Amino acid sequence: MARTVVQVTLFGLLLALVTTLPNKDDWDIYSFHINSTVSNRYATTVITSRVANRMDESKEIEFQVRIPKNAFISKFRMFIDGVAYDGIVKAKEAAKQQYQDAVSRGQSAGIVSSVGRTLEEFKTSVNVAAHKKVTFELTYEELLKRRLGKYELTIHARPMQPVKDFKVDVNINEKAGINFMEVKGGLNTNALANAVTKTFANTEAWVYFYPTVDQQKLCDSCGEHGMNGDLVIVYDINRDAAFGNIKKSPGYFVHHFAPSNLPRIPKNVVFIIDQSGSMHGRKMLQTRIALIHILNDLAKEDFFGVITFDSSIFHWKRELVQANEENLASAKTFAQRIQDRGSTDINLAVLEGTRMLKAHPREDSASILILLTDGDPTSGVTNLEQIQSNVREAIAGKFPLYCLGFGFDVNFEFLEKMSLQNNGAARRIYEDSDADLQLKGFYEEVATPLLTDVTMIYEGGFNVTQTNFSQYYNGSEIVVAGQITDNDIETFTPQVVAISKNTRLVFTESNGTVETTGMVPDSQIQRVWAYLTVKQLLEKELQLSGPEKDNAKKEALELSLKYSFLLHHPNRGLSVNGELSSVSHGGFKRIVIRTAQQNFEVDPREITVQDGQTVSVHAQQDEHIIGQNVTVIRRSKQIDIIGEDTRIIILIHDKNNHLFLWPVLAQKPADTNIKGILALEPAVYEEVQKTPTTKLRIHNKDTNAFSFRTEDYSFPSAPTVDCWIVPAESALQRPINEFMVAQL
Ligand SMILES: *[C@@H]1O[C@H](CO)[C@@H](O)[C@H](O)[C@H]1NC(C)=O
Ligand SMILES: *[C@@H]1O[C@H](CO)[C@@H](O)[C@H](O)[C@H]1NC(C)=O
Ligand SMILES: *[C@@H]1O[C@H](CO)[C@@H](O)[C@H](O)[C@H]1NC(C)=O
Ligand SMILES: *[C@@H]1O[C@H](CO)[C@@H](O)[C@H](O)[C@H]1NC(C)=O
Ligand SMILES: *[C@@H]1O[C@H](CO)[C@@H](O)[C@H](O)[C@H]1NC(C)=O
Ligand SMILES: *[C@@H]1O[C@H](CO)[C@@H](O)[C@H](O)[C@H]1NC(C)=O
Repeated sequence: MARTVVQVTLFGLLLALVTTLPNKDDWDIYSFHINSTVSNRYATTVITSRVANRMDESKEIEFQVRIPKNAFISKFRMFIDGVAYDGIVKAKEAAKQQYQDAVSRGQSAGIVSSVGRTLEEFKTSVNVAAHKKVTFELTYEELLKRRLGKYELTIHARPMQPVKDFKVDVNINEKAGINFMEVKGGLNTNALANAVTKTFANTEAWVYFYPTVDQQKLCDSCGEHGMNGDLVIVYDINRDAAFGNIKKSPGYFVHHFAPSNLPRIPKNVVFIIDQSGSMHGRKMLQTRIALIHILNDLAKEDFFGVITFDSSIFHWKRELVQANEENLASAKTFAQRIQDRGSTDINLAVLEGTRMLKAHPREDSASILILLTDGDPTSGVTNLEQIQSNVREAIAGKFPLYCLGFGFDVNFEFLEKMSLQNNGAARRIYEDSDADLQLKGFYEEVATPLLTDVTMIYEGGFNVTQTNFSQYYNGSEIVVAGQITDNDIETFTPQVVAISKNTRLVFTESNGTVETTGMVPDSQIQRVWAYLTVKQLLEKELQLSGPEKDNAKKEALELSLKYSFLLHHPNRGLSVNGELSSVSHGGFKRIVIRTAQQNFEVDPREITVQDGQTVSVHAQQDEHIIGQNVTVIRRSKQIDIIGEDTRIIILIHDKNNHLFLWPVLAQKPADTNIKGILALEPAVYEEVQKTPTTKLRIHNKDTNAFSFRTEDYSFPSAPTVDCWIVPAESALQRPINEFMVAQL
């Protein structure tokens, strides 16, 4: 196995090296402004980029920016020669299909795709005549979420070249008063730090970031292409009132509820840790480190359990025990010794965790189940819906289930759905050097339960967003919005009922602050309501199936069009692996494409689709196999795989009557986290020496190279091309074995 994969790596590399650097386009971004206004934790950001085509011919000019994943785009406009062109969000009549077609064609709607941990990319381009200018203007909106006692507004600046007139202006307005404010992020360091000005006083804060052209080239993550990094504004507001703050206007209200001066409720927590083979190496190591940190944070009054699983279950102890010194020491030793092996039986593990929590009922405590996994269920019950229904039935709403999906092979949608169905949430843990900190950070968010069974009641309110929350944690916030009929604004009475440590609490308006806009409607409160309603409809859509799912989707779409929120689904996992043919230079004999819901196994003669427990085989030409997120079409000499923002073509080559496959990434998703040979950027190299041996400079390192002629199978005609052979690692910048997989 190892040998064959090495060969692919080299070959992928050869092909990559053939490609040359694209020419740098000659267009000039002469002004780039980002203006963000936050009021009552609702942020509206406008990015304005002005570009001139300095060429004597027309040019395709690109606009490419990154926005927070939680944000909705509410407006996109272009001005060319004084004429405004509105983006698709204005087209209210757009039916679902038209809308999706436009988005996938990447027309004025632009394409939105996921990049990195917290950002998504919006990308569009337009043809601009010689010596003409274009202005792009993008507006997005976002309700800031309170985590670990603070709100974060992330602004990503990547204009793609140094810009003479570059400005970021942030204005925050919070009636309750700003408690603290800091500016963080990669752009607030070293060379750029003195380009940042910040002030705050009582209810207002300002941040200005005006770097010069030279500064834009100097910062840590900057270069010839200018800045590429984040400015993160972190703040919290004063909260002396337990009931929080209600803002009401004729028509709508929004309630922010975040009491902090309450006693901690003891926890019962069970950690379910995946130790299957795929956790091998750094992931397993980081999990051990994080688990030990987390165990250190447990309080004496907490009870806990740890189980690890692969195709079977391993208990540290069969029942929950108190987090006393002796038990913690023993649990840490157990954590140290967790080893990866075997396959993944998620069903068995979650059901066992549930049993343990249920076997340990305790008055005045909060129970929490935490699952950490990095893969699909591969043993025991593997049908995803069956697992979800088993888990739901077992937990029966008694406590929340949090799922942490480690890395990119994980079926995140499955985890998300399962946690939402059980009052919890799912979080991605990115495979990176700080994965242990991410795990610990997530745990801290749920570490201090202050209330359970929180019921938010709004008499006189209707079309209210989610009102029941199984637990409330210190440092977080519950936000509810709804409608009030105009005549009811005086009689509208909000109330919160919840269980604190051994008491039932009732919060009323008298425990908080109520602001009213009088007879003046407030469009922002209405937008917060729309924002939360759309988000929750999308979550509902994820959990439901059949006509109910379609209804939720339709409702979310209608509402988002009404409020001009550009609706999109973030990227879901798509992976492609291949097995080499044993004939030398024979390409692949099998390629497997996995999506969240299905697996497609392609060989030169047929396509096998596995959807849950159903398997079907397709050998007919031009048949469209429509999966949930991809369409696969078998043609005579190639197979087309079309995903939302990805297109893969698998060519079928015939060499001396030997059929083999060759994959080509025809459209690359903008997600910078995509990995693997198919996603390799062409290596940029320079020839630094010709004799006695050729030396190439790749990533600032010189390396020996040999010339070579081979067929480029990424074209149907397989032309013969000249290539260089270099050690794989020098061009890949990482070890070859990172491209190997144990199974397809
Ligand atoms: C930013 O936007 C706000 C709200 O539209 C506006 O009042 C303000 O003048 C803008 N600031 C700048 C510097 O353009
Ligand atoms: C909750 O958080 C606040 C502020 O961060 C802190 O002062 C308080 O002690 C915390 N409460 C508990 C029970 O940990
Ligand atoms: C709001 O509620 C009314 C009836 O109470 C219903 O007709 C309407 O569809 C609801 N609107 C939304 C957006 O849910
Ligand atoms: C919310 O909780 C209350 C009381 O616990 C219950 O009566 C109500 O049905 C719940 N509402 C929803 C939407 O689950
Ligand atoms: C809310 O205020 C009322 C009246 O002042 C008081 O009786 C009640 O205990 C308060 N509730 C909480 C949870 O602080
Ligand atoms: C994938 O399909 C699921 C189920 O139909 C859908 O909820 C999700 O939004 C799709 N994802 C993408 C990226 O299209």
